[in-house]
Amino acid sequence: MSNFEIKYTKLFINNEWVDAVSKKTFPTINPQDESIITHVAEGDKADVDIAVAAARKAFHRYSEWRTMDASKRGKLLLKLADLIDSQVKYLADLETLDCGKPVKIAEEEIIYSADVFRYYAGKADKILGNTIPADGEVLSMTLKEPVGVCAQIIPWNYPIPMLSWKIAPALAAGCTVVLKPAEQTPLTALAVGALIKEAGFPPGVVNIIPGYGPSAGAALTHHPDVDKVAFTGSTEVGKLILGSASVANLKRVTLELGGKSPLVVFNDADVEKAAQIAHNAAFANGGQCCCAGTRTYVQAGIYEKFVKEATDIALKRTVGNPFEDVQQGPQIDKEMYTKVLDYIEAGRKAGALCVAGGDKIGNKGYYIKPTVFADVTDDMKIAKEEIFGPVQSILKFDTFEEVIDRANDTNYGLGAGVITNDITTALSFAKHVRAGSVWINTYDHVTSQTPFGGYKDSGIGRELGEDGINQYLEVKTVTISVPKKPQM
Ligand code: NAI
Ligand code: MG
Repeated sequence: MSNFEIKYTKLFINNEWVDAVSKKTFPTINPQDESIITHVAEGDKADVDIAVAAARKAFHRYSEWRTMDASKRGKLLLKLADLIDSQVKYLADLETLDCGKPVKIAEEEIIYSADVFRYYAGKADKILGNTIPADGEVLSMTLKEPVGVCAQIIPWNYPIPMLSWKIAPALAAGCTVVLKPAEQTPLTALAVGALIKEAGFPPGVVNIIPGYGPSAGAALTHHPDVDKVAFTGSTEVGKLILGSASVANLKRVTLELGGKSPLVVFNDADVEKAAQIAHNAAFANGGQCCCAGTRTYVQAGIYEKFVKEATDIALKRTVGNPFEDVQQGPQIDKEMYTKVLDYIEAGRKAGALCVAGGDKIGNKGYYIKPTVFADVTDDMKIAKEEIFGPVQSILKFDTFEEVIDRANDTNYGLGAGVITNDITTALSFAKHVRAGSVWINTYDHVTSQTPFGGYKDSGIGRELGEDGINQYLEVKTVTISVPKKPQM
């Protein structure tokens, strides 16, 4: 990665690159070797104020953005998608450098993200209201209008996809945006900022403020001139945001938070295939995935065979330099690395059987061995709390009723999976499990077209699909007096 040029490290406001008012910067770290990649302008309240003012101005009723044909908004989004595609290699290298995910996977995620922009590009001029046969001598109709200035706060686990889930529907709806990338991964969001400008979006429509959560993030969620907050991250911060979003004004809020998702494997499953699906569910992105299927419930009849299979797959999982052909790179940062290793220790102490991994790799960089615990019980910390690392817990069950109760016995409700050839079992599970996404004989299949979000403490609202754009729209009812018998 020598001679790799990092072009954008400043705040992006009004289509310009500016220093923070405080002139402060913060380091972004390479999780492979803990070295500083570069320093990035550190946005704070003063910068948020400027960015929100820019977004507000761009949202003025006669602004270029507000008076633009909806189809033109779609064309700009398509242009942005093409520009992202044209830079896949550069963006993937930058993403891998900043967050440590395997570069092949980063490439796939960027191509996917360009398609999220395309999906919402198509929606821009198809935002339809209703005509309603209202009571009385009237005609009523609904107009769907952009919510306004949106603060969007994203995490580090899927930097470009999370950016696309946030920005694409907001812009298709006609909103303006101030985006705060995670402090661990500010670089690709800024690179996409340059493409947003190149695509021809008017100044102020998208503003990007790197910085920390309690300063830049909190300034956004408290800001009286922000109409909506969209957040992805921890449940803990999601709860804080829900509170702060109702202090100065009543912001619309969508939250996509944590999970402890169950994946249930019934006796009739093909054990090899099921173990592979369960492995991918738990270990995708090094387990740093909000809907990771980390509670693998396996029915007693195939339990022993399944554990052996899951162990073999985990032992074969390749971990190392993410610029090489590996399945897993380092964890994101020291904090998460330490947290995951602590959970592994807690699993051992609680008496779970560690059948694969269970340790760090080397002394430089945040590498952790793919870890599988068998004989996990529901009361153990590793079965209850979100670990957000490469750790799979396998739990044994006997009956359908038992496993549904156990699967639902959590405050979370983001994803759930079931593996069986019996359609009644599969659909009964899908009906009774309390989660926003249920996958049958597959897992973590998330597309632009399908809504994604959580029940319970896993969030509020949905992203992607039709539901995703609705979260950026207000409904206005217009009622017109129309006498039933005109006096003419
Ligand atoms: P976090 O929730 O603290 O950070 C996510 C984003 O929120 C970042 O951009 C951060 O700067 C911002 N933020 C933090 N505090 C804020 C505040 N008071 N006001 C406004 N914005 C704020 O998550 P963190 O610390 O990176 O990870 C902690 C745990 O969260 C992980 O162990 C994992 O369990 C969970 N997590 C879940 C994610 C998901 O996809 N749902 C993504 C990342 C983390
Ligand atoms: Mg945090």
